[in-house]
Amino acid sequence: MPETSSIHPEKIKKGLKTEFIGQRIHHFTEVTSTNDVAKKLASNGVEEGTVVISETQTLGRGRLSRRWASPQGGIWFSTVLRPQVKPKDASKLTLAAAVAAAQTIKEMFGLDAEIKWPNDVLVSGKKICGILTETSTKGETVDSAVVGIGINANTSPDAFPESLRNSLTSLKSELCEEIDRGDFLRALLEKIEYYYRFFAEEKFDLILQEWRKLASFLGQYVEVISFDEKIMGRAVDVDQNGALIVKLEDGSERKVTTGDVIMWTDLYERL
Ligand code: BTN
Repeated sequence: MPETSSIHPEKIKKGLKTEFIGQRIHHFTEVTSTNDVAKKLASNGVEEGTVVISETQTLGRGRLSRRWASPQGGIWFSTVLRPQVKPKDASKLTLAAAVAAAQTIKEMFGLDAEIKWPNDVLVSGKKICGILTETSTKGETVDSAVVGIGINANTSPDAFPESLRNSLTSLKSELCEEIDRGDFLRALLEKIEYYYRFFAEEKFDLILQEWRKLASFLGQYVEVISFDEKIMGRAVDVDQNGALIVKLEDGSERKVTTGDVIMWTDLYERL
């Protein structure tokens, strides 16, 4: 049945098999950014696992301070976590969340979801989900980490700026029908908690193992734009910290910690 109503927290919580993630949900019709609201709640001492969802965001943001279009029909939400780790390790949460999102899409809908470094989930080569983790620190350790996830669920292409339409897809576009966002979110929250436990127990290897299985771009030729630099080579792996390892033409290897990956197939299409 087509879903016309908003997301209902009570419906999500019914049958939610988590210990803490999603046990408290704050739902809004419109906010600037769910990450903003979650960060405020976190600084006021809210419990770990608290989730903030909004039907739309007026100032949704993505990586590298980019705007994140957040029209009606998407799933825009942030989770407050309190991992006892050093700030540099918090970025691994993004990889864990990407695995959780890609697996949930695969398992619920049978779609061939894949991960593109560092945090994009793609279906049919187009972006369907993005993740932005923001941390606040106390002394040497993380006080809270807010993991913000945006899923193009029941969004239509015409709700996005024209310049983005070719590079985005949604679950509705791929499945040719609307999904039940509450059911999807419940399954995703369960998956996030599953992988978050590995992270908290310092078993990052297990997350990386799954990440590699989903990262079909590994082994392919890519262009990486990092800060002001552009490098080309074969994406060979990610290291223990989630940095991308690129093998250059001269055989040397470079590690990239931030930037954008463009597949060579996409480059040819642009020519
Ligand atoms: C990216 O791919 O650049 C990351 C996009 C992250 C978007 C989500 S939507 C929920 C949360 N609130 C935000 O403002 N951003 C994240």
